[in-house]
Amino acid sequence: MAAYEYETHEYDVVVVGAGGAGLRATLGMAEQGLRTACVTKVFPTRSHTVAAQGGIAASLSNMGPDHWQWHMYDTVKGSDWLGDTDAMEYLAREAPKAVYELEHYGVPFSRTEKGEIYQRPFGGHTTEFGEGPPVQRTCAAADRTGHAILHTLYGQSLKQQAEFYIEYFAIDLLMSEDGQCQGVLAWKLDDGTMHVFSAKMVVLATGGYGRAYFSATSAHTCTGDGGGMIARAGLPLQDMEFVQFHPTGIYGAGCLITEGARGEGGYLTNSEGERFMERYAPTYKDLASRDVVSRCMTMEIREGRGVGPNKDHIHLHLNHLPPETLALRLPGISESARIFAGVDLTKEPIPVLPTVHYNMGGIPTNYWGEVLNPTKDNPDATAPGLMAVGEAGCASVHGANRLGSNSLIDLVVFGRAAAIRAATVVDLATAVPTPSTASIEKALSRFDTLRHADGQTPTAELRLEMQKTMQSDAAVFRTDKTLAEGVEKMEAVAGKMADIKVTDRTLIWNSDLMETLELTNLMPNALATVVGAEARKESRGAHAHEDYPDRDDKTWRKHSLAWVDGTKTRLDYRPVHLDPLTTEEKGGIDLKKIAPKARVY
Ligand code: FUM
Repeated sequence: MAAYEYETHEYDVVVVGAGGAGLRATLGMAEQGLRTACVTKVFPTRSHTVAAQGGIAASLSNMGPDHWQWHMYDTVKGSDWLGDTDAMEYLAREAPKAVYELEHYGVPFSRTEKGEIYQRPFGGHTTEFGEGPPVQRTCAAADRTGHAILHTLYGQSLKQQAEFYIEYFAIDLLMSEDGQCQGVLAWKLDDGTMHVFSAKMVVLATGGYGRAYFSATSAHTCTGDGGGMIARAGLPLQDMEFVQFHPTGIYGAGCLITEGARGEGGYLTNSEGERFMERYAPTYKDLASRDVVSRCMTMEIREGRGVGPNKDHIHLHLNHLPPETLALRLPGISESARIFAGVDLTKEPIPVLPTVHYNMGGIPTNYWGEVLNPTKDNPDATAPGLMAVGEAGCASVHGANRLGSNSLIDLVVFGRAAAIRAATVVDLATAVPTPSTASIEKALSRFDTLRHADGQTPTAELRLEMQKTMQSDAAVFRTDKTLAEGVEKMEAVAGKMADIKVTDRTLIWNSDLMETLELTNLMPNALATVVGAEARKESRGAHAHEDYPDRDDKTWRKHSLAWVDGTKTRLDYRPVHLDPLTTEEKGGIDLKKIAPKARVY
C-alpha cells in the first residue's frame, strides 16, 4: 500500500452530511456548546434536500382544524403498521415545535392572508383519524421548501460557529475493537489529502440510496454512503425492502413533480381521459397514499391504458388551475415541466411515471437517533458513539411507506432530537478518543486497493448493471420469481466489484475513484434491499408482492435486519415498538385508534 499521511482533527461531534437532517443536527449540537464539525461531500446548499419541493408536515391548524394525534394516526396507517409507535408519536408531537423553530430561524415560508404559514393538502394526510376530509397540513415555501430550509439552516449553523469541511468524502467509520465508533476517515477531494476526524459522537446524515436504481428523483450524490459504512462496520441495515416510488416523476427524465401539484388540485388521467384514481380510492382519490397511487398508475399502464405512443406513462393535469395559482404556488415545477418534459403546464398535461424517490429503510435507530446494534437479548441495544438521522436512518417512523412531506419533518425533528440527546450523552469533560492505528490503516488500505484497482469492469458499467437489475427485479410490483432472480443477479453484480477497473490513480478531483467508492456504498444497500424483499412473503406498504397480496401481521409485523458482507447477506428480525411514549390517561393517543386494520383511502 502507498504511504498516506493524514491530518487529525478532534471534535465532540462530527456530523457526516449536510442535508436537512445533517444541518439541523449540526446546528443543534453547536447551539448547545458541543464542538461540532460537519463533513460533507457536496457544498451544504447543494445537498439533496435542496430538491425537496412540496413541504413539511406539521399539525399547525392554520388552514382548518388539525391535531397531532390525527397526524400520528395518518403516519401509522401510511407506514402500514410497520413504524415504531414511540417514534411516530415523537414525530407528530414535536413537528409543530420544529416548524416554528424553522420559522424563527428565518425560513421564508409562503403565507396565508392572515400572515400565517401556508399549508397545502398532501397524500394520506387526513382529519378525524382518517374519517374526515383531507387536511391542509403540509407547510410550504412555494414548491422550493427544501431549498428554503437548507439555506436557512446553513446560515444558522455558521452563526453558531459549527465548522464545515466541504467536499470531503467520508471513506469509513473508525471503530474500536469493542465496537465503539471513534471517528471517521475522509478524503479531501480538491487537494487529495487524508483526514482523521476523531469524535465522541459521529452522526451519519448521508441521505438515501436512490441511485441504486436506474430511474430516481434522487440526486446522483444519493449513494447510501452511511449505509455502506455501517455494513462495513459489521452493523445491520433495517427494512431495506421498502423503497418508495413517487407517483409523479417526469416520464423519461425522472425529475420530481411535487405531490403538492395534486395538493393544489392537479389530477391524473389514463389514455381514456379517465380520472382513474376515483375508481381505486373513492374517498381521497389522487391524494391517496403514494404507494397506492403508484400501484394504481402501474396497473393502468399494464392493462393498456397508459398514454403516449407506447402507452407507457400517465398524464398529470394542472392546466385547469388558474395560471396565477401555478405561478404563486408551483413556480419550480412550472420550470421543470418546461425544461424536462417540454410542456407548458398552463396548457397541457405533464407526462409522468412512478419513479424511485425515497428509502424507508436505513440504519436502525431509536427516536433519539442512536444507532442500534440489536442482539438476541436486546433488540434495542445501541452502538456507542454513533447516531444516524434523516433518510440514512430508520427510526422507524415511515415503516413500509412514507407519507409525502413526512420526510422534511423527519429531518428536522430527528436532527434536533439527536442534538438534544447528544447534549446529555456526550461528556464535555472527557477526552476525545484516539482512533486505533489499525482502524485507520484498514480504511486507508481499502481506499488504496480501490485507487489501484486494475480489473476489467469499469465502474460506470457495473453501476449500470446494478441499477438495471434493481429497476427490473425490485420494482413497484414484485413476485417470487423476479425477486429470486434479483437476488441471484445482484450477488453476481456485487461479486464483480473484485474485477473493478479504476483508470485515474491521482488524488485530486478524481471522480473515477469517488464514484467507485460510492459504488462500494450502493452495493450493500442494493443487496440488503433485494434480499430483504425476497424473504418477506407478504405485501405491506411499498412492498407489493403479487404472490402474497395481503399484509400478514401475525408473521411479518417485524423489522428486517440485514448484515451485508461482500456478496453475502444475513437476515434477522426485530420487533416493532407497539407502545407509545404517552399513555392515553396522560394525553396520549387511544391505542384502539391505531390498531391494525385494512388500509383503504
Ligand atoms: O412531492 C413532493 O414534494 C415530495 C415530498 C416528499 O417526498 O416528502
